[in-house]
Amino acid sequence: MTLLAVLRGRSLTSELTALWQGYPSFSVQDRGAIQDLAYGACRWLGTLRALLGALVERPFKDAPVEALLLIALYQLGWTRAAAHAVVDSAVTCCAGLGFGSAKGLVNGVLRTFLREREQRLARARASDIGRFSYPQWWIDRVRLAWPQAYADVLDAGNAHPPLTLRVNRRRCSLADYRSRLDAAGIEHLPLAGDALRIARPMPVQRLPGFDEGLVSVQDWGAQFAAPLLDLRPRLRVLDACAAPGGKSAHILESEAVELLALDRDPLRLRRVQENLDRLRLSAMLVAADAADLQSWWDGRSFDRILLDAPCSASGVVRRHPDIKWLRRDQDIAQLATEQTRLLQALWQTLAPGGKLLFVTCSVFPEETHAQITAFLHTQEDAEHLPLRDFPQAGGQLLPDEEHDGFFYALLEKRPQPRHGAKSDA
Ligand SMILES: C[S@@+](CC[C@H](N)C(=O)[O-])C[C@H]1O[C@@H](n2cnc3c(N)ncnc32)[C@H](O)[C@@H]1O
Repeated sequence: MTLLAVLRGRSLTSELTALWQGYPSFSVQDRGAIQDLAYGACRWLGTLRALLGALVERPFKDAPVEALLLIALYQLGWTRAAAHAVVDSAVTCCAGLGFGSAKGLVNGVLRTFLREREQRLARARASDIGRFSYPQWWIDRVRLAWPQAYADVLDAGNAHPPLTLRVNRRRCSLADYRSRLDAAGIEHLPLAGDALRIARPMPVQRLPGFDEGLVSVQDWGAQFAAPLLDLRPRLRVLDACAAPGGKSAHILESEAVELLALDRDPLRLRRVQENLDRLRLSAMLVAADAADLQSWWDGRSFDRILLDAPCSASGVVRRHPDIKWLRRDQDIAQLATEQTRLLQALWQTLAPGGKLLFVTCSVFPEETHAQITAFLHTQEDAEHLPLRDFPQAGGQLLPDEEHDGFFYALLEKRPQPRHGAKSDA
């Protein structure tokens, strides 16, 4: 039913949260198994649909039967579940859902797949959607933007994401935390800065010192924001789209700044507070539309602004595989417009000589380079600075086994407009 809800346009995270609330007796193992199935089926939905489309003669009348078959095919094609148990339970579930008349169809489809598994998979993978498991518009956009690397980018979006930690340097050194991991027998790899990758993902509560705030889970790609802001004690810093607070916390762990954490979603802002409490950090939190300056700004300018803008999340799709099916092609232009609105409004709150770091977890140029090029074209007093100690020239991190996909652009507000720049007027 969770997959069916996603097929009908609901978010996987909120569906799973509702499921856990509805069935509090589920054990950690039950939850893990359900989550693996739901994530796996979303991740491979394009291939699963191509497979199923070739296994049935007519489109499905009953969406629950279709969802059941997609899940069962996922189990048969991508997991080590015992084949007979998958087929039996799919047939039983079919009757349980009130679609007893489809039992024969379900049984027949799954048994045909099992008999012809390799040919069926190869045939399904012959099309773009079957091969990459994204909507065609998404594949086309990535191919156009990254003609050499598009297959790697799309494949990385289907991989299992790494579990990366950020050590809270206010509470513990990297070396001390590594000793704790060694003592607990947890294999890990230091990356750079405050980042460590755990070799085999595990529930965060099993990490030493997690509840006491010694570490947080944060992708390595997200851990570039705080160092790039060039923080110094007592600077006035704005995190304009702060929830759930990963980058806010890293800023506060890095330097004793005065931080205002803003987010338009009051519920998500509560998670910022919870995260800061766990890490024993503090900031001023305000729920507001960051672009609506009148509603929250007191007129005192900021030395640093982090704009981690709402975006397609195309760089983190492996963590949210439902996104690729929920987004529509036309959403990208709308998101880019919203990013422009935020950039233009927040620029007014930046002090001369101050720096604004624009971040998106996107691989689509409208939300990355093109956004910044357009902004620089209209904003006379903005200078695009090089990124120090950043692994990729140009600011785009493409997703790979070490980090998710992110884009960074650091802009400085010049005291005087630069000569020869075009005006907005
Ligand atoms: C990419 S997430 C931020 C992640 C966060 N910086 C972190 O590292 O944990 C984008 C956030 O922007 C918020 N948001 C979207 N539009 C906004 C607006 N106009 N003003 C303020 N916040 C906004 C969303 O509620 C969401 O929490």
